[in-house]
Amino acid sequence: MINSQFFSNCAADSIREAAATLKAGHLVAFPTETVYGLGADARNPEAVKRIYEVKGRPSDHPLIVHISSINQMEKWAKEIPEYAIDLARAFWPGPMTLILKRTEIAQDFITGGQETVGLRVPSDPIAQALIQEFEKISDSAIAAPSANRFGHVSPTSCADVQEELGEYLFGYDLVLDGGRSLIGIESTIIDCTSSSPVILRSGFITKEEIESILEEIGVEQASPYGVKFSGSFEKHYAPKCKVILGESTNTSAGFVALLGIETPRGMARLASPATIEEFAHVLYSTFRKADREGLSELVVHPPKEEGLGVAILERLKKAAQGR
Ligand code: TXA
Ligand code: MG
Repeated sequence: MINSQFFSNCAADSIREAAATLKAGHLVAFPTETVYGLGADARNPEAVKRIYEVKGRPSDHPLIVHISSINQMEKWAKEIPEYAIDLARAFWPGPMTLILKRTEIAQDFITGGQETVGLRVPSDPIAQALIQEFEKISDSAIAAPSANRFGHVSPTSCADVQEELGEYLFGYDLVLDGGRSLIGIESTIIDCTSSSPVILRSGFITKEEIESILEEIGVEQASPYGVKFSGSFEKHYAPKCKVILGESTNTSAGFVALLGIETPRGMARLASPATIEEFAHVLYSTFRKADREGLSELVVHPPKEEGLGVAILERLKKAAQGR
């Protein structure tokens, strides 16, 4: 059942109404270049509480605060290291989240009680317009996790959001339709609370790209189970069907591989991305397609573990082991 309203024409008046909806303490799901987010006023504890209820997410699991530009950084974060500023200058607006020491404005209900806050400046024009408009009327910013039920696949279209959360949203909540997410997988999360940065979650911004900005100090990749972040729970990014990396003898399975790789006999080809970027772009929609078609197994021919392939494999491994 679909309870919330949705706007497919995100012109200035819709953006103003969406910002007012957030100000009133309601929820607004909105497109970003990575995946769709479920937004609330980051300074309103009741509104943020509803995000957790709608997602079915444990309340100690922190949320990313979405700000309009680098100029808003010092409002939410303090003791910002020089390298974090360099990263922000290089990759914002864009698919990168920085974990920084929080100021008092980032309260426990956002950070899961941690002394750090996650900040991101999205580049999607609808997300940008909404955040700018909301900052204008609120002296706040937008807290938003991916707009899916906890542990499920992130939504990359307005229809995905409706499918995930439609029955949990209320009539005064809103969903903004911005078409398909450009990138299709979540942001790269970088912990900037020590003397050198650590990648907590791989994403569209690769380790190599980060290293090219931070030539001297470099960047580490965290072990996937060290801290509380997306995928540190089992069954993350997982569709209902079983995800198999590599080979399977189940000839009625769905199959995904880069263009040029042959479909094993009997399997149903669900996607043939021509590039690694396209692989990321179609990954989650292919998971959803497999479920819609009622397949019991989805066999994925894994991309090489390099560049953007690292982020895709991180998600595929979680999806495969989370069964
Ligand atoms: O691309 C994205 O990052 C999307 C779009 C909507 O911006 N958002 C997203 O949010 O993926 P979410 O909540 O689904 O995943 C963000 C992850 C969470 O697992 C959370 O634990 C982690 O970021 N995180 C947030 N704040 C953190 C903090 N202070 N310390 C460590 N991890 C944090
Ligand atoms: Mg998520």
